[in-house]
Formats: sequence, C-alpha cells, structure tokens
Amino acid sequence: FFNNKADGSLEGKKVLVTAGPTHEAIDPVRFIGNHSSGKMGYALAQECRKRGAEVVLVLGPAPAILQQDLSGITVVKVTSAEEMYQACMDHFSSADIALMAAAVADYRPATTSEIKIKKQEPGLELSLVKTRDILASLGAVKTSRQVLLGFALETNDEERHALEKLHKKNADYIVLNSLNDGAAFGADTNKITIYSKTGEKSGFESKSKTAVAQDILDTIIKTGTTTI
Ligand code: CTP
Ligand code: CA
Repeated sequence: FFNNKADGSLEGKKVLVTAGPTHEAIDPVRFIGNHSSGKMGYALAQECRKRGAEVVLVLGPAPAILQQDLSGITVVKVTSAEEMYQACMDHFSSADIALMAAAVADYRPATTSEIKIKKQEPGLELSLVKTRDILASLGAVKTSRQVLLGFALETNDEERHALEKLHKKNADYIVLNSLNDGAAFGADTNKITIYSKTGEKSGFESKSKTAVAQDILDTIIKTGTTTI
C-alpha cells in the first residue's frame, strides 16, 4: 500500500483531511459552533503535502486560516456539518487516506430561520437534531484499500470511549486526544494515543501539532500493510 515505508513518503497517494469546527445556523446572524482552531488538521495537511501526497483539505470556519501556508493544498471551504459531509463524500472515493480532524457539531437547529429571530419573552427554546456522523458515513462505504482515521476527545473513560468510536465508526485508527497534560482547543501541543483496529496501541508524549502529525503518519505508514 505504501511505496516506501522507510522514508515515510506519501508520493502518489491522495489524502482527504478535515479540519476546524462547523457552524450550524440558527438564523442569518447566529450559529451553534465550537472553539476548534483547525490547527491539528492544518498540521496533518501540511505534513502530507511535504511527504508528496495530493491533499484535499475540507475546512470548516476555523479562525487561523490566514496564518497558514496552504500552498499546494486543495482547500474546500464549508460551513455546516451537512456541507462538510457532502464535500467529504465527493472526495473520499478517490482518496487513499482520510484523516478526520474536524470538530463537527453534533447537533444543528431543527429549523433555520430565514429572518433574524427577535428577542422574545420569557426566553427562546431551540430544538436541536443530530448532524450526520461523517466519519461513520465514510466507514460505511470504505474499501479495504482505504485508510480511515478519526479523532476522539474524551474527559473520562478515555480508552473505552476511543475503542467504541474505532469499532462503531469502522475506522482503521482512532487518535485519542488527552485533555490532561496540555492538550486543549487552540493549543499548539497535543498528547495523543493511537488505537488501531488491529489491536495496536501507541502512546506519545505531549508535543507540537507538527510533531503529532508526523507521529500519526509514521504510525499509519508503518502499520498500514493490513489494508492492502
Ligand atoms: N465526527 C464526524 N461527524 C460528526 C461528529 C464527529 O465525522 N457528526 C468525527 C470527528 O471528526 C472525529 C470523530 O468523529 O474524527 C470523533 O468525534 P467526537 O466528537 O470525539 O465523537 P462523537 O462520535 O461525536 O461522540 P461524542 O461527542 O458524544 O463523544
Ligand atoms: Ca462530538
């Protein structure tokens, strides 16, 4: 599957990366979202490009895009989880590897008002419905020649939850982000553990997101033969 395991090259491979938050519109001026900085996804996209891959970055409304060097990367900008889902479905079938680093909103408003909602008494009740799970949707159509990697952010029972996500979403790898030890939204460092569907577990020290991206790609390339 990988041409040259020794040098970690991704020459000739197409990689789909998602990054950033999604925004779910309440009305024309308001949304539900989260604080994802997009930094982990940028680091992955940049590291894949450096290793010679063709990279498509499906990017939600992340705040730090202007500071990023995205030359040589095809950027598909989206806003909502549904748009991110469509963009991923468009690009996944031709991708060899998909790295799902986006912090997709789990819920969206059941209806979006076309006009600004006026302030009202005594308050406003919003009805929310679940968004589509993009990682699980890709897992459902994945072929044995494709590598699918997701993330998991947990505060408790980390390993159990990460393994549940790995199996439920039919991913090949789940990268567990530990909130303990310096990892957080917006931070430049991350402490991860990678779980593979073949049962391996690799733990890493807290390091820069660039170094974390290298560890993730090295792990996939080293253990990826099972997906041939
Ligand atoms: N994910 C996705 N689509 C969603 C929600 C999550 O593709 N609608 C992906 C994320 O990009 C990530 C992985 O699923 O790679 C895990 O996201 P996470 O929020 O940790 O897990 P959830 O399944 O949403 O469960 P919960 O938030 O309840 O822990
Ligand atoms: Ca979630």
